[in-house]
Amino acid sequence: MKPQSPKRTFDSFIRLLYGLVVLLLGLMAYLFFGQIYSPKNAEAQVDSSAVYIQPDSNFTHVWTAPSDWRMMYLSSDQKELVLYGRELIAHTSDYLGPNGSVKAMSNGMNCQNCHVKAGSQPWGNNYFAVESTYPKFRARSGTVENQVKRVNDCFERSLNGEKLDSTSKEMRAILAYIAWLGKDVAKDVKPKGSGIFKLKYLKCASDPGKGKLVYDTQCQSCHQPTGEGVLAEGGKSYTYPPLWGIHSYNQGAGLFRISNLAGFVKYNMPLGATYENAQLTDEEAWDVAAYINSMPRPSMDLSKDWPKIAKKPFDHPFGPYADNFSEARHKYGPYKK
Ligand code: HEC
Ligand code: HEC
Repeated sequence: MKPQSPKRTFDSFIRLLYGLVVLLLGLMAYLFFGQIYSPKNAEAQVDSSAVYIQPDSNFTHVWTAPSDWRMMYLSSDQKELVLYGRELIAHTSDYLGPNGSVKAMSNGMNCQNCHVKAGSQPWGNNYFAVESTYPKFRARSGTVENQVKRVNDCFERSLNGEKLDSTSKEMRAILAYIAWLGKDVAKDVKPKGSGIFKLKYLKCASDPGKGKLVYDTQCQSCHQPTGEGVLAEGGKSYTYPPLWGIHSYNQGAGLFRISNLAGFVKYNMPLGATYENAQLTDEEAWDVAAYINSMPRPSMDLSKDWPKIAKKPFDHPFGPYADNFSEARHKYGPYKK
């Protein structure tokens, strides 16, 4: 091989340099015109007030449920129990509803209707903090409640039904599943994303009238104008569960408090909404909650609830109270004095 002359090396160096300059110019032109003509920029030009909003850190790093593959570390009996528990949470009515195959003892709703994805959805009223925080003192009953009592609270109130026998296979399965979901959470810890999101209070009272407008446009297509939902084929459970009426949760249920209902709806409804992808404003969530909870539903004996009235939550809609505000003011707000 003949060594290259210095002239030729210089020529190819210049050509390379040209090439690079042309490429660089092309890149700059691309970036420049891309900036001006991109659709994103067209929007930004219309709304010059647009700013980058940092994602709320509440919604990053939320706790999630253990993956299913980890069930391989359970004994086969235990795994079977956990899976049966999940099945009971997801399809409660098939087993324990009015035509349930195990026992008729509840209203046809499924636990999953309110505990989204069998209680595993962040801010979807999940069970992440149950195992870590129970047994605990609860002011509603004025007693220390264990997991059995808490599950039966939901049977008697949210499912407007009867208690489930604490020794039954069904109760053991439900508790095994709830324990599984919370197994990595340290004692007394409530991980981020557990339960229902606590929305900020509105400055004014929530408004059932405005809530009806939200309901008519965003909810009634599934939950129906009557609020009574749609039964699935076979009539054993609901495709769209009832929000009020005789088959819905009763007045003792957690969702009958507007703050709970608004927080649930905000990050879970209309169906498909999540904490990362909310569809309603806070105000819409409060108003639609006010509307739903102003409609008729089953009652229950609440005379033993909140034995210390000073411990009643601000939005509990039934007196007596430790203050002079009316029941309506407690129910709908405004909650700030
Ligand atoms: C109508 C809606 C609804 C249905 C149906 C329902 N629940 Fe609940 N459940 C709630 C609400 C609301 C809470 C209280 C959440 C809060 O206070 O943050 C709750 C709380 C709980 C808790 C305590 C959670 C905690 O972290 O303290 C358990 C356990 C529970 N439910 C189990 C069940 C089981 C099991 C079923 C089915 C048999 C069921 N629930 C059905 C609405 C419902
Ligand atoms: C596309 C259909 C659809 C729309 C629209 C919809 N939901 Fe739901 N909703 C559901 C389904 C399905 C469930 C039960 C979820 C499950 O079992 O996984 C549910 C459950 C609920 C629950 C808890 C269970 C109950 O019956 O109390 C509430 C409360 C609720 N929806 C309120 C609303 C509100 C308020 C809106 C409007 C902002 C709305 N939903 C819009 C389908 C819908």
